[in-house]
Amino acid sequence: TKVYIPRDTTALAMGADRLAAEIAAEAAKRGEAIEIIRNGSRGMFWLEPLIEVETANGRIAYGPVETQDIDNLFEQSFLTGETSHPLCQGLTEEIPYFKRQQRLTFARAGITDPVSLQDYQAHDGFKGLLKALSLSGQTIVDEVKASGLRGRGGAAFPTGIKWQTVLDASPTDGDQKYIVCNADEGDSGTFADRMVMEADPFMLIEGMTIAGLAVGADQGYIYLRSEYPVAHQILNEAIAKAEAAGFLGEDIQGSGKTFHLEVRLGAKAYICGEETSLLESLEGKRGMVRAKPPLPAIVGLFGQPTIVNNVLSLAAIPYILAEGGQAYADYGMGRSLGTLPFQLAGNIKRGGLIEMAFGVTLRELLEDFGGGTFSGRPMRAVQVGGPLCAYMPESQWDTPMDYESFQAVGAGLGHGGIVVFDDTVDMAEQARFSMEFCVAESCGKCTPCRIGSTRGVEVIDRIRNDENRAANMELLEDLCETMIDGSLCAMGGMTPFPVQSAVKHFPEDFNQPAISSK
Ligand code: NAI
Ligand code: SF4
Repeated sequence: TKVYIPRDTTALAMGADRLAAEIAAEAAKRGEAIEIIRNGSRGMFWLEPLIEVETANGRIAYGPVETQDIDNLFEQSFLTGETSHPLCQGLTEEIPYFKRQQRLTFARAGITDPVSLQDYQAHDGFKGLLKALSLSGQTIVDEVKASGLRGRGGAAFPTGIKWQTVLDASPTDGDQKYIVCNADEGDSGTFADRMVMEADPFMLIEGMTIAGLAVGADQGYIYLRSEYPVAHQILNEAIAKAEAAGFLGEDIQGSGKTFHLEVRLGAKAYICGEETSLLESLEGKRGMVRAKPPLPAIVGLFGQPTIVNNVLSLAAIPYILAEGGQAYADYGMGRSLGTLPFQLAGNIKRGGLIEMAFGVTLRELLEDFGGGTFSGRPMRAVQVGGPLCAYMPESQWDTPMDYESFQAVGAGLGHGGIVVFDDTVDMAEQARFSMEFCVAESCGKCTPCRIGSTRGVEVIDRIRNDENRAANMELLEDLCETMIDGSLCAMGGMTPFPVQSAVKHFPEDFNQPAISSK
């Protein structure tokens, strides 16, 4: 019997390694022949560790399983897929949270063994790459343009146009161009990049190789945050296997084409997720933001034309090449085409990953999928898109998840992270935190961000201490405008968004002395 136990970081944090060892020992003791497969996560984090047993009808899920449940599971014949056990969730793919999703990028996540090349190929892996090997760079770029894919890191710039810029750019140094994957996933409440790397690393390798073929780059780097040691290990294992099987390196599948790939670790700086400071860091320098222009697409890594794409953008590419750009563009709404893997986190009952076409509403994600708050108290504020995006009050929760609709209400989708707060949240404290976060993470290159954020914390403290409240509220607004207009990058330029949204939608929290002033 095949038993699937995830090796994803969330499952490991919930004790999956110990569980796997004890299930193996218990099976041996009982003389049951089992094969344990360490898969990626299905993304239903509230059920982790979620173990699955293969049956003739499909995989049956049990979760969250703790070591003290093992004996009981064996007693109640879980190896035959017996569904009467209280932890049994039925067929995994019939769980409503999972069933309703539209998984294109995460189609294999949790299904395959992340480091089994055979498993990957048996589930459509490398189909896109094999197709791309026979196409011209321009044809590949045209396919990406047809998909409507926009940068999934947060800025939503059309990926095909970025690739066209790199394809058309002339290197100053021979013919060197680079593909850089931004895997410095630093936004609060986000974990989709990590899940790709831990559940389906060959997909990212395939996407980057296709990008290399498209623009004529033979070297790629994955810039990975060092907080992801499991992803690091899995990526390195997958890269070695892809190389050994001729899907990476010299003469890919006998095509004469070359693409090399290496993982480089960051050093825990949020700002190194900004593409130009990421490039500085990759070059071995301190992660300071570079002025744009020139764009990295023209003058990027070591001064050469460089594609810098987020993990999710590159992970969408194999599907687009395999099925055609139009198949991807059939999902979504308006100018937001395809799917976005949303990540539900914070004070939420059923946190996890939900891949849906653009257009689903925030409320559907919060209520139908999330099931309300973890605390059971009413929800009050939701921050979508990371620490640099707005807090949204309930009046905005019917907004469809689409870049333009969010922009129209002064919010952002960012990287798709959703962090929920219940009615005990102090929004003035959250506004203060935004400024404080900027103080900690600013690279220090420009004044509005470096000094402005420190002044921002002070002004909010004065407001909370009831010192000249009206004058200080005005000063805070002025300061926010200055940071938006005068900062060199999104760090200083977007920090005011959560602050302004907190003031606008939750003014009552600024009209009273601090509940918990630090
Ligand atoms: P941006 O709008 O300056 O650039 C977007 C991308 O398009 C960049 O790669 C840029 O080089 C490229 N680009 C722009 N014009 C181009 C052209 N004509 N040809 C080729 N390429 C072109 O945005 P930026 O500063 O790179 O990113 C800001 C976003 O990052 C925010 O929206 C925020 O949501 C997101 N973010 C994401 C985080 C994460 O952990 N994923 C963390 C922090 C912020
Ligand atoms: Fe650095 Fe902040 Fe200026 Fe960005 S806005 S360049 S992080 S100081």
